Amino acid sequence: MEVAIKAINLTKRYGNFTAVYHINFEVYYGEVFGFLGPNGAGKTTTIKMLTTVTRPTEGTAIINGYDVIKQPAKVRESIGVVPQEYTADEDLTGWENLMLIAALYGIPKREARERAAELLDMVELSYAADRKVETYSGGMRRRLEIAMGLINRPAILFLDEPTLGLDAQTRAAIWDYVYRLRRQYGTTIFMTTHYLEEADRYAERVAIIDHGKILAIGTPKELKEKVGGDVITIEVNGDVDTARKVIEGIDGVSGVTVNGNTITFKIRNGNTAAPIILEALNKLSIRATSITIKEPTMDEVFLEFTGRRLRDEEGSSEEFMRFRRTVARARR
Ligand SMILES: Nc1ncnc2c1ncn2[C@@H]1O[C@H](COP(=O)(O)OP(=O)(O)OP(=O)(O)O)[C@@H](O)[C@H]1O
Ligand SMILES: [Mg+2]
Repeated sequence: MEVAIKAINLTKRYGNFTAVYHINFEVYYGEVFGFLGPNGAGKTTTIKMLTTVTRPTEGTAIINGYDVIKQPAKVRESIGVVPQEYTADEDLTGWENLMLIAALYGIPKREARERAAELLDMVELSYAADRKVETYSGGMRRRLEIAMGLINRPAILFLDEPTLGLDAQTRAAIWDYVYRLRRQYGTTIFMTTHYLEEADRYAERVAIIDHGKILAIGTPKELKEKVGGDVITIEVNGDVDTARKVIEGIDGVSGVTVNGNTITFKIRNGNTAAPIILEALNKLSIRATSITIKEPTMDEVFLEFTGRRLRDEEGSSEEFMRFRRTVARARR
């Protein structure tokens, strides 16, 4: 796979404070990449270096084949940016903001009008195109900012906390746009968030950053496996000690604990391991009366790599999924 974004020892110091330290990672074309970290981790600083807004103190990055230090203009042509702060002019309408930014890119008027209409349609703002931005809600503003970031048809779109502070329904809708974009234009997406649930559910690969350093990179599934796999809890009817020995003898099992008739342990790929374990127990006439398999959560992944917890500000995963289903229904 070809590399759309490559950070090479990317470093940013402000005075003697190091905001980002020697980070290295690659994002492939067409990927939806999540950059996950708590407040002050260095997410925005990294995006600013990747998008030529601020110059790295050390190291560099290659964006769409161009070096951010040596070819910043080429980099800027290749990318769209949706910054953490709003950039739209409040006194202008959504439409006027899009036309203004198109003019900045030197896009001819007719072409600009076509793109603006298409983008407003995509982010479901056509109905509010002629309203002043000051009358928009937070979610509408975010959607307009996304449309603005796309006016130059970038190969790579950087979004800095596009879902921050939005309700779960709007957050889900924004991820929907991101995936629609990728489907329609093959856009590569680099997106920061500090919502663990979101990174887990929507990002194809995730980098965890904390105190300016990357602590882990991989698919959410890979990161969970690094934590030690799934937790299986089996309640047995029969000889618990024998059952324990059988389970301990199975490849990949770790952390076995017994509590009454209940045995708990960790294993990779719990779903495929479970039937094997049940069969081994069955051979010794030990019956399982119940079995549960629990994947580690992103919260546990974060704790494992950073040594502390980062709680989602709102909503359990169930709540989030309910919202998503509601959004999906509303679309139909
Ligand atoms: N211009 C600056 N001068 C000095 N320190 C800065 C500057 N910009 C950022 N920092 C510091 O660098 C660190 C990383 O900031 P950054 O904005 O990259 O974090 P972040 O991960 O985007 O956080 P958030 O989730 O709050 O947006 C912070 O400690 C911040 O105070
Ligand atoms: Mg930030």
